[in-house]
Amino acid sequence: MIVTTPTTPFAGQKPGTSGLRKKVRVFQQANYAENFIQSVFDSAGPASGATATGATLVVGGDGRYHNRAVIQQVIRMAAANGYGRVLVGQGGILSTPAASQVIRKYGASGGLILSASHNPGGPDEDFGIKYNTANGGPAPEAVTEAIYARTGTIDRWLAVDTPDIDLDTIGTAEVAGMSVEVIDPVADYAALMEELFDFPAIRKAVHEGFTMAFDAMHAVTGPYAHEILEKRLGFAAGSVHNGTPLEDFGGHHPDPNLVHARVLYDLMMLPEAPALGAASDGDGDRNLIIGKGCFVTPSDSLAMLAANAHLAPGYARGLAGIARSMPTSAAADRVAEALGIPLFETPTGWKFFGSLLDVGRATICGEESAGTGSDHVREKDGLWAVLLWLNILAVRRISVSELAREHWARFGRNYYARHDYEALDTASAEAVIAGVTAALPGLPGQSFAGLTIATADSFSYTDPVDGSTSANQGLRVLFVGGSRIVLRLSGTGTEGATLRLYLERYEAVGGRLDAQTPDMLAELIAAAEAIAGIARLTGRAAPDVVT
Ligand code: G1P
Ligand code: ZN
Repeated sequence: MIVTTPTTPFAGQKPGTSGLRKKVRVFQQANYAENFIQSVFDSAGPASGATATGATLVVGGDGRYHNRAVIQQVIRMAAANGYGRVLVGQGGILSTPAASQVIRKYGASGGLILSASHNPGGPDEDFGIKYNTANGGPAPEAVTEAIYARTGTIDRWLAVDTPDIDLDTIGTAEVAGMSVEVIDPVADYAALMEELFDFPAIRKAVHEGFTMAFDAMHAVTGPYAHEILEKRLGFAAGSVHNGTPLEDFGGHHPDPNLVHARVLYDLMMLPEAPALGAASDGDGDRNLIIGKGCFVTPSDSLAMLAANAHLAPGYARGLAGIARSMPTSAAADRVAEALGIPLFETPTGWKFFGSLLDVGRATICGEESAGTGSDHVREKDGLWAVLLWLNILAVRRISVSELAREHWARFGRNYYARHDYEALDTASAEAVIAGVTAALPGLPGQSFAGLTIATADSFSYTDPVDGSTSANQGLRVLFVGGSRIVLRLSGTGTEGATLRLYLERYEAVGGRLDAQTPDMLAELIAAAEAIAGIARLTGRAAPDVVT
């Protein structure tokens, strides 16, 4: 049976880098989610001709409130839109990296991932839908633009009229001639991790006293972490904290940073801390890494993982290249140089890594926003990063802080912080960007707070694989000696505008490698204020969040 319903207006619902992300109550409006899903199917599904009739669709999410309701609707709509098979994670659960893997492994034409990442969940909180294509990665801009255009013209959505299917029992059901397979969300992913990493070496180290704590933040990685870390690797029961996914994440933000993973951080600063502390976010794509008494910035983590990746069987042949987003620190650049491999600097957002991974030009990628991953899937992958750290530490038998010190002594150190100014009124945020943009040509040669500017520009990227260009991807001011400030507006904020200021100070080998980050960034902060006037233009004396 086909349901035909006129659309509701889609004002302001442009999907960003992470798909469509709104409050649950917005998604609960009549036709809202349906219109978006139908727009995806009309642009990329069998009806569009982009995908064969009878194709496979993957669906799953991070388990947040409203997840199950949307999954049932996706199944009803997929059946009416010419799909032949839907694969859905048991309980509606699939971490974002696991969904990426399932799409690739089963030859699906794409997948709908239901998540608002690290944003809080619950009836008054956030929900999201994102479409990934057959390579397992977020839909490229051409596809998201087509979906967005379709949301403006759509006048009906299609669904069959069937009762909900049982999402909790593994097995196959039939919905109007389409098969729905409820799959184990962990099995394929755990098997892939066993291929990539030296599980016997980690198990041996655990047997000899290697310990860890993993905070799943009541989000999607709980079942994955219990299975892989406790069951397969033998870490003591209880090493996984908050391992049961909850629809409201226990009332917390499932955001693995030093604010929301404070309990883990405090544990890691104690003398009796385990060797590694780690956490992942709502949908399992981000990671936090803390050694005993030693927080590792995501930019450093990328560099340290790249420098040691050959110790894991999946990367024993070496890396083809490293890719990092522009605001991510240049620590990885020095590793790429030492390894004699290319380093790609891309705009913010994981989708820009996809083309490099697809053609094998990059093997490992990372962003300063706690995302790290490789060519094993087309999403960043929180548990993957944790397992690579465990593999390296288990083989090398050193602590995180020893590894970090050794790394800095060899490559120098990039002190780094990101200052976020949240919920700004759009006009003042844009005034900051406009002011710096206008000043860019005159900046080289000028000095602020004792730092001399070498170059200044607005970052523009041309994809070396498909030749597509993305302009205005952030303003960068480079100082003599390799320090840097970067400014850009967030593409994922849900309230007003979020301005991000990225600060990076480079200390070469032989310099001050063991100092405190805030001390090392003081001059850069002063220079940034002199150049951008954030306090003056926004009225904010200090950032809302420092990571
Ligand atoms: C943020 C991060 C970016 C990440 C994106 C999606 O985007 O900065 O690195 O890819 O979330 O997780 P932003 O809000 O800065 O546009
Ligand atoms: Zn996420």
